[in-house]
Amino acid sequence: MPVFARRRFVLLTATIVGVLAGLHARPDATAQAAPPTANNAVRSGSLLSEALEGPMAGVDEIIFAVRAPGRDGHWYANFGYHSSNENQMQYGVDGGRLLRLNLRTGQLKTILDDPGGGVRDPHVHYDGEKVLFSYRRSGSRHYHLYEIAVDGSGLRQLTDGPWDDIEAIYLPDGEIMFCSSRCKRWVQCWHTHVAVRYRCDGDGRNIRIISSNVEQDNTPWMLPDGRVLYMRWEYVDRSRVRYHHLWTSYPDGTGEMVYYGNMHPGTVMLDAKPIPGTNKVVSIFSPGHGRREHAGKLTIVDQKAGPDDRSHARTVADGVEYRDPYAFSEDCFMSAEGSSLLLIDGQGRREVIFALEGDDGKTYWCHEPRPLRSRSRERVTPDRVKPAQQSGRLILADVNYGRNMKGVERGEIKKLLILETLPKPVNHSGTMEPTSLGGTFTLERILGTVPVESDGSAHVEVPPLRSLFFVALDENDLSVKRMQSFVNVMPGETTSCVGCHENRTDSARLIERQTLKALERPPSEIQPIAGVPEVIDFPHDVQPILDRHCVKCHGYAKREGGLGLAGDHGPIYSHSYTTLMITPGLISHGRDADGNISPRGIGSSASRLMQLLDGSHYEAKLSTPEIRLIRLWIDTGAVYAGTYAALGTGMMPRQNIDPNVYKARCVGCHKGNPPGRQELHFSLTHPERSLVLMAPLSKKAGGYGLCRTSFDKNAPPADVFRDTDDPDYRKMLASIAQFKDRHDQTKRFDMPGFKPSPHYVREMKRFGILAADFDLAEDPIDAYTVDREYWQSLWWEPPRH
Ligand code: HEC
Ligand code: HEC
Ligand code: HEC
Repeated sequence: MPVFARRRFVLLTATIVGVLAGLHARPDATAQAAPPTANNAVRSGSLLSEALEGPMAGVDEIIFAVRAPGRDGHWYANFGYHSSNENQMQYGVDGGRLLRLNLRTGQLKTILDDPGGGVRDPHVHYDGEKVLFSYRRSGSRHYHLYEIAVDGSGLRQLTDGPWDDIEAIYLPDGEIMFCSSRCKRWVQCWHTHVAVRYRCDGDGRNIRIISSNVEQDNTPWMLPDGRVLYMRWEYVDRSRVRYHHLWTSYPDGTGEMVYYGNMHPGTVMLDAKPIPGTNKVVSIFSPGHGRREHAGKLTIVDQKAGPDDRSHARTVADGVEYRDPYAFSEDCFMSAEGSSLLLIDGQGRREVIFALEGDDGKTYWCHEPRPLRSRSRERVTPDRVKPAQQSGRLILADVNYGRNMKGVERGEIKKLLILETLPKPVNHSGTMEPTSLGGTFTLERILGTVPVESDGSAHVEVPPLRSLFFVALDENDLSVKRMQSFVNVMPGETTSCVGCHENRTDSARLIERQTLKALERPPSEIQPIAGVPEVIDFPHDVQPILDRHCVKCHGYAKREGGLGLAGDHGPIYSHSYTTLMITPGLISHGRDADGNISPRGIGSSASRLMQLLDGSHYEAKLSTPEIRLIRLWIDTGAVYAGTYAALGTGMMPRQNIDPNVYKARCVGCHKGNPPGRQELHFSLTHPERSLVLMAPLSKKAGGYGLCRTSFDKNAPPADVFRDTDDPDYRKMLASIAQFKDRHDQTKRFDMPGFKPSPHYVREMKRFGILAADFDLAEDPIDAYTVDREYWQSLWWEPPRH
């Protein structure tokens, strides 16, 4: 390893301009930066010279990565391939380097240079002698973990396979934590893979998952007290773009708990690391739903007032392009920005300490600067996971205690409904349509219920490594309060909670009682709910109930209250589903809104539909199991498709009435589109039942005669189409019949002969759920079964010896 001259009191460059013109043009492994010249020599008193004598004392060198940023603007879209095109990679153009910069001399050394590959997330070992990093070797599609000595020797590959392993850190016990797409899941609203937290031995063996998340975990980092700090992106019916905050767990995955922000929507909190000598952390607060490569505001978070106190996050410097912060003290940070590396002080004064020459950061950026030095290990915590166990336990102390529980009477809550949010095997819809182009953002499985004791306590045995959450139910099984975040236990772990919830800083108030009733007995087993599918599907499970009890008055012949509950297909949903969703107050699912909703403010209690089912509405007399099914459908998010295979098949999002007919026959009264939802305008099941035909058609000819001569309520029907022989009527009918033909060819998930998309099949083969020789054109497939086999393949299995 070449030893650089250390000139103790050299005037340092304010801007050491590293020579990096063209990553490809530098085959030599130990290139030197241009020596500091008078031009870029440092004024004494520069931030860097002060820092090197102060908080950075002993840090003569740093390492960092150079690579192109990810292709699209999402913070997480920088590894793996595009869901609808496996040859379109999400990372930027080739060219990756691991570099080492001497801050005192300006010397730049290449540790690794791969013009055809990619380099990311270097992490220096405790001994300061080697670096763990993520490397996509030229010719490979995937990032894997590697180690290399800081002099560039001894490159060693630790992990392998058709997955991406990123954001790895050394753990104090000698093992490694990283994020990986081995979890076999996809972002629920984008074209990208998910990576969640894993562990492995120091040599990359014994890889095991320690997260149940269905969305990204990002940038784990050790805290001095032995916990790991990371970002968790959540999706439990709350907004899909507003919950990505800071969490901690022990390195074994136990004790997963919010660190900062989960109650406050917005901002992606990434790359958090402890600030030495304080209890604070520095983090990037990436605005909104986050920016490319984690860019955002450099922010100091003080958690002392609890995870929900917003006043304890302080922006250090203006600007939203900071990345990959590293704290030397509360007054000294290193950060990347575009193609530069910066020092920033506590007042936000900044100084460039390195800049790539060449393309001004248009192609290549600097990433992940870290000091190159030895450091002490964080506290080692004993491993609490008991791999041989097939369950964990949850202890709820008092369900009545919580931060938004006003009005709930003691004893009102009788049971907990336990739900699980389910991983998605592929996603290929970028639309922000609430349920994602007729597919469903997240599906929820019903595990069952457990009793709550009269003192509000519960004790339950639950499956490990699953994203669980709860609905508190009253004596009629109606929702009193819903949790829209998730909890995971590791095998053998027991986690306790106070209620729905305690304020996290307030837990001292917890339980003056000595005992909890629920602890006087063994943990409850979750009671499955008989006669109800685990995952409810609207067309298969709910529609038959509407057909039996509602459609005789709310069908096409009779449309009482102007309301149709038949299951004809509209362009994306069925008419009944759309009608239930848009009729005010009928269904409360809270999807895509914010969380911690008031008691009885969400779910079955807040859904007026339940009152129409209680026997009081005309002749609708439902059986108890039928009412139960609809109630649970609402409390699991009231989704349309109960399979993730529904995505993008049999959906016809854009449709127009024949433009010539529209111009000639409709536009005189309807300037834009006719009133009402487009979803209800067309029937792709029975084109002649389409509202755009029935509304203008005279009653005499079997139409609704809804179009009147004027918009006055009492105006007589206009009978735009006197009868069905009207040539324009025939034209419109013919064009809707064409939509129907296209729709019948691609087929929606609830149609006989339905086939999932090739993307779904590709991933299910990759995950080993479908046989490699499965032929989508020839072989039959039941997507509901394939979904279930996929989910089960991810369940925890005690290791077999
Ligand atoms: C025997 C006829 C009949 C049956 C069966 C029937 N309804 Fe109705 N429904 C009506 C009539 C008449 C109206 C309009 C007058 C009114 O609002 O009471 C109506 C109105 C409605 C409305 C609009 C008013 C509101 O409260 O928002 C909804 C929703 C509704 N029904 C749902 C249902 C559902 C769901 C079923 C099946 C479980 C059903 N109906 C079964 C006759 C019926
Ligand atoms: C039915 C009420 C309810 C019960 C019971 C409940 N939670 Fe929650 N939980 C919530 C609510 C409300 C939130 C806040 C997030 C949201 O829903 O918007 C939450 C959030 C959380 C969070 C995220 C961190 C935070 O504080 O925001 C964790 C972790 C959690 N719960 C774990 C548990 C555990 C462990 C239990 C007990 C076994 C439990 N919860 C029982 C309602 C509940
Ligand atoms: C002479 C005026 C007139 C013409 C021409 C006309 N409409 Fe209408 N239409 C109306 C009025 C008035 C309404 C009722 C609007 C309301 O009550 O708010 C209406 C309602 C509708 C509705 C909504 C039905 C409902 O209750 O949801 C549809 C769909 C519709 N028209 C389609 C058409 C189409 C398609 C054409 C051309 C083929 C057409 N209309 C031509 C006047 C007209």
